[in-house]
Amino acid sequence: MSRRARSFICLLLLACFKAAIAQTRTNLIPVLLIKADEPRGTVSPTLYGLMTEEINYSYEGGLYGELIANRTFKASPNEMKFWSAAGGATMTVDTNAPLNGALDWSMKLDAGRDHSPAGIVNGGYWGIAVRPKTKYYASFYAKAADNFSGQLLMSLESADGNRVFARAEVSGLTGRWRKFEATLKAKTGRPSKDNVFKITMTAPGTIWLQDVSLFPPTYNDRPNGNRPDLMVLLAAMNPKFLRFPGGNYLQGNTIAERFEWKNTVGPLELRPGHESPWGYWSTDGLGLLEFLDWCEDLKMQPVLAVYAGYSLNGQYVNPGDDLKQYVQDALDEIEYATGDAGTAWGAQRIKDGHPLPFTLNYIEVGNEDWFDRSGSYDGRFAQFYDAIRARYPQLQIIATATVKSRTPDLIDEHYYRSEEEMEAHALDYDRYSRTNHTKIFCGEWATRVGSPTPNMAGALGDAAWMTGMERNSDIVLMSSYAPLFVNVSDIETREGSMEWPCNLTGYDALTRYGSPSYYAQQMFSTHHGDAILATDSQNIPTELWQPRARRHNGVEQPPPAMRIRRLFFDATRESGSGTICLKMVNTLGTPEPVRVIISGVRDVEGRGRATVLRADSPDDTNSIEHPKQIVPVSEKVRGLGKQFTRLLPPYSITILELAARTKA
Ligand code: AHR
Repeated sequence: MSRRARSFICLLLLACFKAAIAQTRTNLIPVLLIKADEPRGTVSPTLYGLMTEEINYSYEGGLYGELIANRTFKASPNEMKFWSAAGGATMTVDTNAPLNGALDWSMKLDAGRDHSPAGIVNGGYWGIAVRPKTKYYASFYAKAADNFSGQLLMSLESADGNRVFARAEVSGLTGRWRKFEATLKAKTGRPSKDNVFKITMTAPGTIWLQDVSLFPPTYNDRPNGNRPDLMVLLAAMNPKFLRFPGGNYLQGNTIAERFEWKNTVGPLELRPGHESPWGYWSTDGLGLLEFLDWCEDLKMQPVLAVYAGYSLNGQYVNPGDDLKQYVQDALDEIEYATGDAGTAWGAQRIKDGHPLPFTLNYIEVGNEDWFDRSGSYDGRFAQFYDAIRARYPQLQIIATATVKSRTPDLIDEHYYRSEEEMEAHALDYDRYSRTNHTKIFCGEWATRVGSPTPNMAGALGDAAWMTGMERNSDIVLMSSYAPLFVNVSDIETREGSMEWPCNLTGYDALTRYGSPSYYAQQMFSTHHGDAILATDSQNIPTELWQPRARRHNGVEQPPPAMRIRRLFFDATRESGSGTICLKMVNTLGTPEPVRVIISGVRDVEGRGRATVLRADSPDDTNSIEHPKQIVPVSEKVRGLGKQFTRLLPPYSITILELAARTKA
């Protein structure tokens, strides 16, 4: 058959399938059977966690408190990205005036007599948040040529220059680098973000600047810490672990651009920074110790991913002698996190300000090594595995691709899918082997519908997927959505603030919001018992769904259509209280009555609690302008029991908490 004829038949088939995607419904009401006396396993206490990396200005311009964009002037070698000169002064990169070996160039500012007021201006990451009654800690390194003998004036001002919120002055610049510090106090005014930070020269001459920093108050008042509102948003998810530092950010585009942890610890001015694979510069101000502090602040376990010798452009390190230095780096990294004063890297951590060792249980070797076409991962993993096992036998070691030579404790699976794909695969884990030693870490997953953050369709796909993970959390021990953050200030332009189109939470310099998917996840992670209950169902509505066509031998080939469920559920039980937590997801645009039958209990109280996330349309969403359009609503409900009928609203996620008493 000719290629043309094949394409024609495929198109015809596709048209037929599309026509057939009419809802096939029985007239029977869906029935959910909950077997309360049949625990199938234990809900993993670490099931819900966070995954993070520097993408979409997640740290710089995001969680990391620093307000100055490009504080080290290294973001771009040819231009002073995020900076501008004021008063006609000339601003240049001076490679002959390094602050030190790490910050190996500086900014030279020349101001003539007729330049006034001469200085530099930084508008932050699409704005600088200024709040009333708030102190800002400013610092920078500076030196001057003999022709300058004035002061430097720091100010926090509105971008239009109409308001000055705070000022401070420093003097005493000489020909040698020196650090200058000041506190700027904003007193009155409404919180705002269209503001700038200025350093102005009070006299003509030449000065050099490096490491210009401005910090607002941070979460838990940590020096060099995190933005409080974003930490609060994360804390509400009750996350049990943090997978860091990536993602692709761990790997880098090249080996030279990998996350080299030793360059990310110690004094900020000694961190050289590096280019991230997501197209912008990282100062590494949020480095290894700051990741660990973040875990400590939110009581999360660190899931430390170590660079495993494979970068995004395909460069890889051969197992054997070539890989030894990378394995040693990983061992040193673990020692930095967990060692005591008697170890070299433990002592370094103490010197860096954290006396107590961190508790570390999980090490991940690499990221998405299934992309490594060289076939080197098995050998690379084995070398890391053996060295880590020998020195730290208590650690759980996570592989990122299938390996044969060793048995990882967990394997990291990633799924980025459409709503229907998520729903079509929501029962996959029910079919996984129960006898494998290697358990599942679903380390990146997301229903990618909606941008910059998912809409309700995304939340429904996510919730369907989460019922599958929770129901199988005897083998799915951990899961984390990705990406976590997006700065939504400039999402249209190529060089803007977003690289990945669909992300869990969004923010600008001043405010933040959670997407419907964020709330779905928050509902799941804050409502579950410790025992997975056996369940069954009848009359679940289904629809015929045509998966996307794939190209095979140059021809678009639609895979066979599938019948997918449109209602999803799982049930867990709190052993102590006996409370049953029933999660139900209605992805349909119609209200769905559901008959719930609970067996294996003496009785179930008529009163309970329902928490519902719902929308009028799957396209409905939250945004920076409308942050709370879709949020969960909790209420007391009646009419529950061992058997009851509940009407699930269209496009909704419902969690019922049922007070059940066990058989005598
Ligand atoms: O989450 C965005 C990227 O997706 C991650 O960096 C990478 O691991 C995956 O391909």
